[in-house]
Amino acid sequence: MNIVSFKDLWGLRLDYSVFKMSRNPFSITPLFSDYDNKERCKMDEGLFVVTKESRDVVISFGLGKRIITWGKIGVGKTTLLNMLLYLARFRESCLPIRVIIKEDNVGRAVQELLYTCCFELVNELKRRKITEPLRSAKRWLLDKRYTDRLYDFMCRLIGAYEEGRGEERKVSVAAGVSAVLEAGMETEDVTIKSFRTYVENLPVKMIEEYLKEICKLVKELGYDGIVFALDEADHIPSVEKVLGMLTVSREIFFASTDCTFILAGSPDILAQDKKNEIVGIFDSIIEIKSLRESEIMEAFSKRLKSENEHLTLNDVFAPEAIKAIMNYSGGVLKVAIKLAENALGEAASLRECPVSAKHINAAFTRTRADIAVRLPEHMLQVLRALHELGEASPSDKTFQAKASLSRSRLTLILGSLYEEKLVERLRKGRKIVYKVPPQVIPLIS
Ligand SMILES: Nc1ncnc2c1ncn2[C@@H]1O[C@H](COP(=O)(O)OP(=O)(O)O)[C@@H](O)[C@H]1O
Ligand SMILES: [Mg+2]
Repeated sequence: MNIVSFKDLWGLRLDYSVFKMSRNPFSITPLFSDYDNKERCKMDEGLFVVTKESRDVVISFGLGKRIITWGKIGVGKTTLLNMLLYLARFRESCLPIRVIIKEDNVGRAVQELLYTCCFELVNELKRRKITEPLRSAKRWLLDKRYTDRLYDFMCRLIGAYEEGRGEERKVSVAAGVSAVLEAGMETEDVTIKSFRTYVENLPVKMIEEYLKEICKLVKELGYDGIVFALDEADHIPSVEKVLGMLTVSREIFFASTDCTFILAGSPDILAQDKKNEIVGIFDSIIEIKSLRESEIMEAFSKRLKSENEHLTLNDVFAPEAIKAIMNYSGGVLKVAIKLAENALGEAASLRECPVSAKHINAAFTRTRADIAVRLPEHMLQVLRALHELGEASPSDKTFQAKASLSRSRLTLILGSLYEEKLVERLRKGRKIVYKVPPQVIPLIS
């Protein structure tokens, strides 16, 4: 269609009817993100590909277990963690808690863990209808609030009780926060802030004690235990920080046999685990590998079928398009899905079916085209030299000569390229070698 006027532009939107679909079914949102929502999860079950790794994590999963899944970004770790939280809630009757670990909170990860858990419990106590476990859980908290600040904060946030001349007076849960406000007490925001500050400054030893006690409260509520998923540590570039956190908080992972811990880590985490921190803490260490072509094809067909049950993979993607996707993504599902999403859009805008390698190439260059322009010459030089050599280490004389750089400069530049995910790092015996991943090659040649 020839777009000339603003009216045409206004009416312009991608139309997937050439593919017999009403929308683009590809999206890189992890599955089971809404693990408390059974209906949503049921839909995600239909998109989920059962891999060897998913069987391994489910077998390793159980009360009191500690599991680390590690692998490249985009291979499906968050999805697996979410899936276990979904099982925790609906199969194991455990309380599922997701904690996001980032560069700026990794030093306080266990404090974050306790805070998230207490907050989740507050919400649960506010949300639930009055039933017997709820009443006994509240009694439990109330008994403790006079001697302990953490439980006092929780009671204030639940807002279900006020003190009246020594004896407790009940205020309905629904009236909660407003009753506190009417009584001229501090606002909920202020309580949340001081609650956070209090937990953030707790020493690990106290967190451990609290965790043991909180497990009792969780049981009062009718759960068998708590499942903690610590996600996104794979996105933290400095692995030492993650390892440091694990060492400092080691006891937390052993605090109670009613707590299960699952962590997502990067490939470097094991390579750098010189003091065996990981081996000492975790019962299972599971590598999440890049997917095979058949698995990627299955993931794609499931997505297509979720939109239109009659569609097969071949109706939408030409075989060479799948080959191109495999080539560019190297089996990393997130990259493959992103490419499929963009290529499908590209083909839809041209009203061409099926998606061919041409659309995949266009989608790929559109998303990463800025790289060659953005990268300074010396980085491109290193990438080109590395591509010519196939695999190399900064200590290789031929690599230094080809890139016209010293060993130390080369190490530095490779470090930045690695952070930008433009090179891959592999361990070969005692040596670390670098490689240009297939999806970057078209951008530098
Ligand atoms: N087993 C699976 N079956 C189908 N799709 C999956 C599976 N695992 C991951 N995905 C999809 O792959 C993409 C990346 O997964 P994600 O869990 O975010 O990976 P990671 O946490 O390792 O970066 C998401 O779009 C997710 O929906
Ligand atoms: Mg993730």
